[in-house]
Amino acid sequence: METRAKARLLIVDDERSIREVLTRTLEHEGYQCETAAGADEALELLSDGSFQMVLSDILMPGRTGIELLEDIKRDFPDVAVAMVTAVAETGTAVDALRRGAIDYLTKPFNLEEVLLSVERALRQRNLELANREYRDHLEKKVEEQTDEIRATFMGAIRSLAGALEAKDRYTRGHSDRVTEIAVIMAGRAGLSARQVEQIRLAGTVHDIGKIGVPEAILLKPGRLTEDEYGLVKLHPDRAERILEPIIRDRRVLAVVRHHHERFDGRGYPDGLRGEEIPLGARILAVADTYDAMTSDRPYRDGLTVEQARSQLLANRGSQFDPALIELFTEVENDLHCCPISDSRMAS
Ligand SMILES: [Fe+2]
Repeated sequence: METRAKARLLIVDDERSIREVLTRTLEHEGYQCETAAGADEALELLSDGSFQMVLSDILMPGRTGIELLEDIKRDFPDVAVAMVTAVAETGTAVDALRRGAIDYLTKPFNLEEVLLSVERALRQRNLELANREYRDHLEKKVEEQTDEIRATFMGAIRSLAGALEAKDRYTRGHSDRVTEIAVIMAGRAGLSARQVEQIRLAGTVHDIGKIGVPEAILLKPGRLTEDEYGLVKLHPDRAERILEPIIRDRRVLAVVRHHHERFDGRGYPDGLRGEEIPLGARILAVADTYDAMTSDRPYRDGLTVEQARSQLLANRGSQFDPALIELFTEVENDLHCCPISDSRMAS
C-alpha cells in the first residue's frame, strides 16, 4: 500500500494555472505529481501504470473529463479519479460519481479541501484494493481447500473400490485392469487427453455402487436369482449418486452410469441405445466384459483370450458398439505383449 510520499497523482486540466497551483499544493504535501493538458495526454501517461489517482477537469477542449473518467475506469480500474470543475451542477456531479468518480470538487476550490479529498480518496482506494486482495486470497484458499477435500474423498473412494474388489479373489484388480484396457482403447480411438483422463477416472470407480449390494450376492458361488440380479443392476445408479458430490465432471459420471448399457438398447439403467450411450461408457463396457470373461468366477473358470474375443465378436451390434469391437481386436495385441496386470495371476 502506498504511503503519501509514494502516491503518484496525475492532474489533468487545460488551464496551466490550475495545473500549477494543484501541483504546488500537493507536492508540498509529499505527493508526486504529473500533469496533462487533455484526456489523450492523460491516458498516455497513465499507461505506465504508476499512478494511484487522477484529478481531472471536466470541461476541456477535445474529449471531456467524463469521457476520460470512463476510459480510466475501463482500462485502469485501480486508479481513483476525482473530478474538478468550475461548473457547480448537481447533475454533472451525480453523473461523474455514478460513472465511478471517487469525489467531485468545484472551482474555485479551497486547497485544504483538495488535500482532504485526495487523502480520503487514496485511503478509500487502498482499502478497496486491500479488500479485493483479501477476497481473492480467501477465494483461492477456499478453492485450494475444496480441491484438497475432493482429492481426499476421491482417495477414499478409490481405496473403497479397491477394498470392495479385494474381498473377492475373483474380482481383485478388476477395475485397474478394466481401466488399463479402456485407456488403451480410448487412446487408439483418437480421443483427446482430457477424454482419456475422464475414462481413466470412470474406470477406476465404475463399480463403486456395488458397495450397496449385499456381500452374499456379490460373493455368491453360483448364478444369481432374478431378484438378486435386480439388486446388482442398481449399482451404476448408486455409483453415480455416491460420486456426484465429489466428481464435478458430468461426463465422468455419465460414463460410470452407463457402463452397463447395451448397443441394442437392452442394457441398464436407462436402456440407452447406439450413440445415445456416451462413447466412454461404450468403451468401458467392452473392457469390463472382456476382463470379466477372462477372469475366473466362483462357478466357472475364466475364458481363454480366444474364447473371450469370439464372444465379443458374436455380440457386436447387440451388446457392443461394432466399431469398438473392431478397435478392440486391433489393440488386443498391445494388451498381450505387455501384460496389463498380473494381480489376477497372483490371486
Ligand atoms: Fe459394473
